[in-house]
Amino acid sequence: GSVPEHTPKEEFSDLVEALPRRQQSILELRLYQGFWLPEHWVPGTIVFQRRFSPRPDDVVLASYPKCGTTWLKALAFAAAARGAHPPASTAHPLRRLNPHDCIPFIDEIFAGGEHAKLDLLPSPRLMNTHLPYTLLPGPVTAGACRVVYVCRDPKDMVVSLWHFLRRAKPDLSFAETFESVCDGTVAAGPVWDHVLSYWRASVARPDRVLFLKYEDLLRDAAAGVRRLAEFMGRPFSPAEEAAGDVAAVVELCSFEEMKGLEVNKPGAGTAGRYRPMPRDAFFRKGVAGDWANQMTPEMAARLDGIVREKLQGTGLAF
Ligand code: A3P
Repeated sequence: GSVPEHTPKEEFSDLVEALPRRQQSILELRLYQGFWLPEHWVPGTIVFQRRFSPRPDDVVLASYPKCGTTWLKALAFAAAARGAHPPASTAHPLRRLNPHDCIPFIDEIFAGGEHAKLDLLPSPRLMNTHLPYTLLPGPVTAGACRVVYVCRDPKDMVVSLWHFLRRAKPDLSFAETFESVCDGTVAAGPVWDHVLSYWRASVARPDRVLFLKYEDLLRDAAAGVRRLAEFMGRPFSPAEEAAGDVAAVVELCSFEEMKGLEVNKPGAGTAGRYRPMPRDAFFRKGVAGDWANQMTPEMAARLDGIVREKLQGTGLAF
């Protein structure tokens, strides 16, 4: 007879039960290898760590939640797939689909025991994760594939996170969200350790880990697209440059363009599997500095102070 297949959740339930636990807004968190992960990610993370076999042309898109994941997914997809899908084309998949439906979210795929789906993807694969660098599978951190990270001013991240979580829990207070970020007990937190894990990796292996900032992308998205394409081993050719392909990618992935799509309108449906979120929730304001509308100067100074202290001497600053 055949051995019954266990889901990752069943297989690792004892291990998960033994981990420190905290409740944060809509999520149960577990402390796993130094980070507070949503409980439902932990078994999948273990399977990811043990079973993922990277291909040399894989690109893992990594981010702390609410720091530009959706945008990075769109930009990377548009740049990587520009041969098959010219960015200016009106039939481009990104004009029909939310970026989260174009690029698989590793953490959910493994949590759902669906890792075989990744094996079926054609190369070069693009995938994304919210895990910190130190929790990525050994072969990935040994340099077997490429990793792109996007970070963002933590103050804007907190405000974005609060607005996002409020979609699922309307009475969630900003103060509670802020406190959880400040003490690190937030999904994939502490945020400074998350950012530093990728920062250090990008300093050590700039050929393997590309470190981007949301604010830099806002200032000069075209420069970001060029860096992305070059890093992925497919720089824009002079002919593509002359044809305006970089600008077309920027335009295709712009906040206004994506927010305005039928698929991302309020009521048009959800993205994500375990905890589906309305697709329009991924497009709120798309600017830098919105924290000032939500945070007191004291709160801003406190979070800045924590982050500054944690980042001191690392060469990274916000
Ligand atoms: P705000 O809530 O500050 O507007 P993530 O994709 O990691 O969940 O991050 C969401 C944040 O990125 C939100 O920030 C969202 O508005 C912004 N965003 C989404 N798509 C974007 C795009 N195409 N360009 C710029 N910002 C974008």
